[in-house]
Amino acid sequence: MAEPASFPARGQPTEELLEAIRELRADDADWRGGRAFSLVYNADDAELETLHDAVGSMFLAENALNPFAFPSLRRMEAEVVAMASALVHLEGGDGSMSSGGTESIFLAVHTAREAARARGVENPSVLTAATAHPAFAKACHYLGLDHLRTPHGPDGRADPAAMIDALDERCALVVASAPCYPFGVIDPVADLAAAAADRGVPCHVDACLGGWLLPFWEEIGERVPPWDFRVPGVTSLSADIHKYGYAFKGASVVLYRDPAMMRRQWFLYDDWPGGLYGSPTAAGTRPAAPIAGAWATIRHLGRTGYQAKARVVRDTTLRFRNGIGAIDGLEVRHRPDLSLFEFGAAADGDGRPVLDIAGVADVMDDRGWGLDRQEGGLHLMVSPYHAHVVDRFLADLADAVAHHDASRGRASTYGGAPPAP
Ligand SMILES: Cc1ncc(COP(=O)(O)O)c(C=O)c1O
Repeated sequence: MAEPASFPARGQPTEELLEAIRELRADDADWRGGRAFSLVYNADDAELETLHDAVGSMFLAENALNPFAFPSLRRMEAEVVAMASALVHLEGGDGSMSSGGTESIFLAVHTAREAARARGVENPSVLTAATAHPAFAKACHYLGLDHLRTPHGPDGRADPAAMIDALDERCALVVASAPCYPFGVIDPVADLAAAAADRGVPCHVDACLGGWLLPFWEEIGERVPPWDFRVPGVTSLSADIHKYGYAFKGASVVLYRDPAMMRRQWFLYDDWPGGLYGSPTAAGTRPAAPIAGAWATIRHLGRTGYQAKARVVRDTTLRFRNGIGAIDGLEVRHRPDLSLFEFGAAADGDGRPVLDIAGVADVMDDRGWGLDRQEGGLHLMVSPYHAHVVDRFLADLADAVAHHDASRGRASTYGGAPPAP
């Protein structure tokens, strides 16, 4: 742990500070070299990076809290929402941008809670499969809802029978993932949305991961089960532009089939001396750069650009999957629908793992590959840049399988951890 910094007595020149930052970054994940797998989506696109630098620096100071002061931002956000809506076949709906998947999910849970309260539900709950992203647990925790979770089926997908069984009159929102993070599989959205609609309950599709890739996956000829607003009963959807939309961080959309739900998202307050305060998202001051960055990214890539990147991601995913499947002792889990998946140790005739996958992960760590450890295996998520490193990765993995020791006991983690008490 670094020494706590004292407050600087004097200012430091720019060059010195930039050099200090370069040094500080020495141990950061090497995403430019294709060594990071879920935190950064490396689009392998130098021109797009130049665009990001230019647009980001144009909008460092502006504040999207007041769109009347910055009509450019209002227009760009409205256009991003419109372009996202077209992509997921939403007509006549509404939505907003947010800072990321977690905020989009918070907003969807919040509007569903408000709608449930309006229906007279006193202790609303949210129903998800166990594979749903922790953002739902977090939203329930912050917003005072119960979180009901049902086990996933043997195929890694939400089990519709278990979820329908758990669906009661307190349910404010049924959730389906497209796909879920741990296994990269798409939940049976049509079954879940139909069951929810039968009971008058909204259904949210968490397409934070898939929202900007599945449309193009379908367009390049891959099989995609129904997941978007074409499915009756889907009432809201989150899709992160800072993931497979290749925008820089801080950009997601939350969309509603019924514009009245978007009105519930707004927080309006005038009981203070400052006049009416209206805010559509969790943040007050809203950074402008992610809005402009997302707008510029979508228009720069366009349909053909996204299709080209989807092809690279698809082909590279196949190379990873086939290569991993060909290594004795390893298996890819759950027939993933997209470009992310779990792999782990194959089982012997008695169901015992044939190797210590955590020991294999230790060797991969030593070689600089930042794979996430999950409960049952390792997690891999493919970005366009990984096309350059897949062969090297597979050679290192085969070697790690052949030569590893027992696990050093590193826990499976996703995200950070609080400081020790
Ligand atoms: C399926 C899914 N939903 C939601 C999120 C949360 O997104 P964010 O980290 O942008 O808040 C993630 C993040 O990976 C995700 O994979």
